[in-house]
Amino acid sequence: GPLRFSLFTLFPELLLPFTQEALLGKAARQGLLAFDVIQLRDFAGNRHHKVDSPPAGGGAGMVIRVDVVERALASLPTPPDEVILLTPAGQPFTQRLAEQLSERQHLALLCGRYEGFDTRVERLATREVSIGDYVMMGGEAAAACIVEAVGRLRPGVIGDAESHRADSFSSGLLDYPEYTRPPVWQDETIPEVLLGGNHAAIERWRRDQALARTLARRPDLLPNAGLSPEDSRTLLA
Ligand code: ADE
Repeated sequence: GPLRFSLFTLFPELLLPFTQEALLGKAARQGLLAFDVIQLRDFAGNRHHKVDSPPAGGGAGMVIRVDVVERALASLPTPPDEVILLTPAGQPFTQRLAEQLSERQHLALLCGRYEGFDTRVERLATREVSIGDYVMMGGEAAAACIVEAVGRLRPGVIGDAESHRADSFSSGLLDYPEYTRPPVWQDETIPEVLLGGNHAAIERWRRDQALARTLARRPDLLPNAGLSPEDSRTLLA
């Protein structure tokens, strides 16, 4: 069956494009993915649809109430496999975590806004996830990142070309460079090996490029990249 994402937010309009447009929208229409975008305000439990209150102890901003989130989650027809709270204080989001989440059947994502959720919401979550060491206005853009990275790992969501490239990052290295027409642009030419039709030579060149780019740009990735003895020789050369 489809991987279902239940996205809880105060701003559904922010998330709808990621669930309706481009390849994710197509996958939803094909029944490969399923999306519910759920307005937290519908579970406010008061006439004014108010979901937040001032912080206990005083201070700036407003805090989203835990009872609102509890009712929103309880509205799901079945409990999800994971309830993921988006917060800069969470576990770093990585390709490895995306792969783990892509094996689940139903993921609930909680997008905070304002000063955040009452900390007791953590008890309703199975994990907290951060997409990086910066603070955004709310969790919607983080939820969009997770939907993008996880959704594309489900069978049939993307074509063969893209899944081959995905394997390149899953290998732990940055991607090799691609070229297409025109053959010369601003004095920069396409490497001869790519025009020669020797597929073994092309594969070796791409691997070497991936290694060299990773060494230059993200050497921190190399210890976990699972390098072969030949890869290590290339890097030392
Ligand atoms: N909400 C605000 N900033 C965030 C971040 N970096 N990751 C996840 N959720 C967030």
